[in-house]
Amino acid sequence: MKTGRPLRVGVMISGRGSNLQALLEACAGADFPARIVLVVSNRADAPGLSLAQAAGVPVKVLPHRDFASRDAFDAAVSEAFESVAVELICMAGFMRLLSAGFVERWRDRLINIHPALLPAFKGLDTHRRALAAGAKEHGCTVHYVRHEMDSGPVIGQAAVPVLPGDSADTLAARVLEAEHRLYPHCLRLIAEGRVRVRGETAEIMAKGAPT
Ligand code: GRF
Repeated sequence: MKTGRPLRVGVMISGRGSNLQALLEACAGADFPARIVLVVSNRADAPGLSLAQAAGVPVKVLPHRDFASRDAFDAAVSEAFESVAVELICMAGFMRLLSAGFVERWRDRLINIHPALLPAFKGLDTHRRALAAGAKEHGCTVHYVRHEMDSGPVIGQAAVPVLPGDSADTLAARVLEAEHRLYPHCLRLIAEGRVRVRGETAEIMAKGAPT
């Protein structure tokens, strides 16, 4: 995906937007190889919307309940991103399942951050489940999106220790800090053209390696 100009990125959110904020801050760097050109939320009350607006990034609210079907909602999201020539979509706390058609339309151009070291702890409530399982390490994963939930080629992972006395909240806070470093890092790798998807795995190439 290396073009010599910043990669045009769209972000999908449903809520808080702390990962969106991390991506906005990274993209504000003069030499960062990506720019966020549109943020789409399915919720009008998502706090992340004001973070985008504060950074001067256009937002579009598409309330899913306004659409007759999942396909109709997904088509509107695609059209919003395509209308501003988005090349890569980052899901950042977007809390709705996407149709197979949407995932296929954006295949290898759609990434997500999940708060666990995939393939462990797919789904919701990962921090509580990691504690219940007695995991000694937990973390986060940035991956290309496939139709099966929380699956797809892994771009990067960051591990954090599980510490004695951790609650789901303290563990979540430690993972979230790691998320805020990992997501911009993975976006940079893609924007620099250093990620090659081969089937179900992603290969990371060294800086300056021939593509
Ligand atoms: C993060 O933990 C992310 O990994 C998960 O949803 C949460 C979103 O948080 N997919 P935020 O909206 O980015 O603060």
